[in-house]
Amino acid sequence: MRVLAIESSCDETSIAIVEDGTVVRSNIIATSAAAFQASGGVIPEEAARKQVESILPVLKQAFVDGLTWNDIDAVAVTKGPGLLGSLLVGTVTARAIASVHGKPLFGIHHTLGHLSSTWLDTAADDAPQFPIITLSASGGHTELWYRVSHTQGSLIGRTRDDAAGEAYDKGAVLLGLPYPGGPSIGKSAMEGNPNAYELPMPLKKEDTLDYSFSGLKTALRYLLRDDPSAKDRINDVAASFQAAINLHLVERIKKALGKYPDVREVHIVGGVSANTELRKLAQEVCGNGVTVRFPKTIRYCTDNAAMIASAAYFLQKELPDIAVKSFETEASLPLTEAVHTMA
Ligand code: KG4
Ligand code: ZN
Repeated sequence: MRVLAIESSCDETSIAIVEDGTVVRSNIIATSAAAFQASGGVIPEEAARKQVESILPVLKQAFVDGLTWNDIDAVAVTKGPGLLGSLLVGTVTARAIASVHGKPLFGIHHTLGHLSSTWLDTAADDAPQFPIITLSASGGHTELWYRVSHTQGSLIGRTRDDAAGEAYDKGAVLLGLPYPGGPSIGKSAMEGNPNAYELPMPLKKEDTLDYSFSGLKTALRYLLRDDPSAKDRINDVAASFQAAINLHLVERIKKALGKYPDVREVHIVGGVSANTELRKLAQEVCGNGVTVRFPKTIRYCTDNAAMIASAAYFLQKELPDIAVKSFETEASLPLTEAVHTMA
């Protein structure tokens, strides 16, 4: 089954064509992130305007290798959550092309897309095995899932305040590094010492799988304000801040593995899963008993349409009646709706 998918929830305009949820024929991504370097974050109206400019050229580019509409079996689109203006550009386009070309249309939860991203480019003998603990960490969300299939599972931990990517982005503003903060802090941290400064571990005394990042951001602000050495050692501060975020992310996974001993794999997805140090730490902490996976390329970590096409394929396979149901575009689509049957 060949799905053409559109993802336009934030500042990326992406259209992909994917076969059977795994074989990526094309995955075109236009990003307007550069326009937001000065502001340190996305300006919603501007992002929506960029979506309008990009969507048709990106659609045209997605038809690679002579593929035509005759080769497409279904259209999928991110229905939420995200920035309403940006989402609408994608959903309106998807409705129009599905209707004109007479294809079924699937509305997909953005997070279900990230959860599916570890299936992209996997061969049949390398397919992920449930039960899986997935950490989904990006600019808008940070959650821990226990999943027994693509559509069944439960949300076992979530951030109580900022998302991990948001902590990177806000930290970068404090450090005077460009947006998006994750890559720029990662680059600066490569030249720094992660043990140079000690930052407090969030929710240390609580028996929970939840996350919290706002305290780390405040600790960074005070460090830069109060420690005269810090301003001249930005690489050391960046490395210490990155290490604290990553340790908090991974420490919860380790705890979850203790609670769910049947788990066969740990997946880390979303923009923050592009972080090299996080990848190393996760491998170390999870040990050899479970398979640790990340999306196969960085382009599958940050927002992309290939993951939406993959989610659509598995959704229609497991829950065909729900997959074709009509849907609304919802900026604040609840997180709990990403997985359909909560244990
Ligand atoms: O998944 P994504 O593209 O968009 C959302 O759904 O939010 O994630 C974007 C987030 C940004 O906050 C960015 O700073 C972070 O992912 N990010 C990273 C890295 N690359 C992107 N964080 C840490 N290390 C990276 N290499
Ligand atoms: Zn995302």
